[in-house]
Amino acid sequence: MKFLYLILFMTLYFGCSKTSDENSNEEKDSEKVIVNDPHSYANPEESKIIHLDWDATVSFDEKVISAVATLTLENSDNAAFLFLDTKELSIEKITLDDGEEETHYEIGERDPFLGKSLKVEIKPETKKVVITYSTSPEAEALQWLTPAQTADKEHPFLFTQSQAILARSWVPIQDSPGIRFTYNAKVKVPDELMALMSAENPIEKSTEGVYSFQMKQAIPAYLLALAVGDLEFQELGPRTGVYAEPSVVSKAAYEFAELEAMVAAAEELYGPYQWEQYDLIVLPPSFPFGGMENPRLTFATPTILAGDRSLTSLVAHELAHSWSGNLVTNATWNDFWLNEGFTVYFENRIMEKLYGRDYSEMLTSLAAQDLQEEIESMTSEGMAADTKLKLALNGRNPDDGMTSIAYDKGYLFLRSLEEEVGREKFDSFLKEYFTKNAFKVMTTEEFVNELKVNLYEKNGLVINQDNIDKWIYSEGLPENAPKPISDKFDIVDTQWTHYGEGIGFEQLDTEGWSSHEWLHFVRGTPEDLDMEQMKKMDQTFGLTNSGNSEVLTEWLVQSIKHQYEPAYSRLEDFLINTGRRKFLMPLYKELIKTEEGMQMARSIYGKARPNYHFVSTYSLDPLLENK
Ligand code: BES
Ligand code: ZN
Repeated sequence: MKFLYLILFMTLYFGCSKTSDENSNEEKDSEKVIVNDPHSYANPEESKIIHLDWDATVSFDEKVISAVATLTLENSDNAAFLFLDTKELSIEKITLDDGEEETHYEIGERDPFLGKSLKVEIKPETKKVVITYSTSPEAEALQWLTPAQTADKEHPFLFTQSQAILARSWVPIQDSPGIRFTYNAKVKVPDELMALMSAENPIEKSTEGVYSFQMKQAIPAYLLALAVGDLEFQELGPRTGVYAEPSVVSKAAYEFAELEAMVAAAEELYGPYQWEQYDLIVLPPSFPFGGMENPRLTFATPTILAGDRSLTSLVAHELAHSWSGNLVTNATWNDFWLNEGFTVYFENRIMEKLYGRDYSEMLTSLAAQDLQEEIESMTSEGMAADTKLKLALNGRNPDDGMTSIAYDKGYLFLRSLEEEVGREKFDSFLKEYFTKNAFKVMTTEEFVNELKVNLYEKNGLVINQDNIDKWIYSEGLPENAPKPISDKFDIVDTQWTHYGEGIGFEQLDTEGWSSHEWLHFVRGTPEDLDMEQMKKMDQTFGLTNSGNSEVLTEWLVQSIKHQYEPAYSRLEDFLINTGRRKFLMPLYKELIKTEEGMQMARSIYGKARPNYHFVSTYSLDPLLENK
């Protein structure tokens, strides 16, 4: 334990040398940045991974990946040890370079979040560490699905989710966002399945089930990804395409038809797309997130296949991460807002460019509402400290930082800067920021310095440090926070006013509403609607049968609130067949507010839990397990 603390609190120094611009402002940037990643055992100042060769066999029968990971190192002159992160891995042997002889290693004590350190004895001249190991069937990053849990019900499926610190449960690695490496992989899967990674990917199945991958750009471990299943590829454009199970692929291709245009819009905003190809994979419904920005291959939930392209802002979000996050990476999970806040800002700019300001203002208004609610609930639950942009997640699960603070407060902060200095200056600042810091790490403090020098001073403006500090280091929202205004939502609100004045649901003017307007409308359902009124609302607008997962979730929340029982079987069905945490949380949270609801929630959870990913059960267990 002592050892663990030693490592935890050891300050890690690693180089973050910047482009050697002539600009004198750059001098400061080229100093070494001190980064202490509290969520990794890695010792990059002594020995750092720069490349991974991964040779793996995937066994669905055993729910195990057996692999050899060959790590190429960059060592300091007196390097004696390489520290890696692991979680529930069985290490069989470790050798160095081309030698046969095993090297000495030690496995540290288990921390519930961090797993165990793996301390490998090396020499300063050691180039490669070769680790033969296998994963545990309970590996937290891996979800093994039976055929019944897939769309086509014929073949099993496997996918990984490495962010934030789960990569270590399938590869022994330096699992810290500040440590980047390239990788090559060879993966053997059952003959009838295809394997894909966050790398250059096949577009057809191989006959023997062996696939080779190459990722030439250096990435941090949280972007390592693998998916194995009965998959097909459909091209969408010269550098875009989509993978999905055979029965899903054409629906997906329809939904994402604008992908190529999105990439072009993103490039126009903030510079070239640096990863060559951009594909999506639609996963089975148990995927716990909406999307995950694995480089070259975004992982996506099937719940965005609404049939009308109305939920594609999620794709814009994951695409935007190809700049914010994947190019310029948060140094630690305490700086998570740098990944997500920038991405939400960028996402909204893409949506505005493609569909206009009216459209993007609906999205930002919805987000601002969510944020307001979340700040209130976090504050009332004693979590107010987590409403600061700069987080303090040391000793905690970094997943705790995945709240709308990083996303939407982060977004509003950047929007406030845009509004202060004007869009033109802000855009050229951002473009330069992404270019200059590409493939590097960023701390919150360094970002503030960037702002000061390259946004304010460069434009002859003076930074208001107090204001910046308030956004970053204070709880809640500053008073001067931007307030997105959607005229379209004002019109939606008017319909509720009409309803209040006695006009029936059929007479309300809902003609041509987008799913965002529907979402806002359903959110506005008056608390005092009685059963008859709920029924009428449902019959008129077909809400219980909505094919739009966002609208449906909101309607189901209202149904629970109003104890509208006709929606309960759809609710149960949805909870059993969807694993996306964003939908599960509000539904279960609403259910458990009453005694009967709690019983119902527990009974549904009993049936649904085997379908959920670790990430979702981690959040739900505390709410629902009998204590
Ligand atoms: N990178 C995140 C997902 C994530 C964050 C996974 C932290 C694990 C830890 C991804 O880009 C994301 O933000 N997904 C959102 C969708 C988005 C439109 C807000 C999601 O899954 O809901
Ligand atoms: Zn994101």
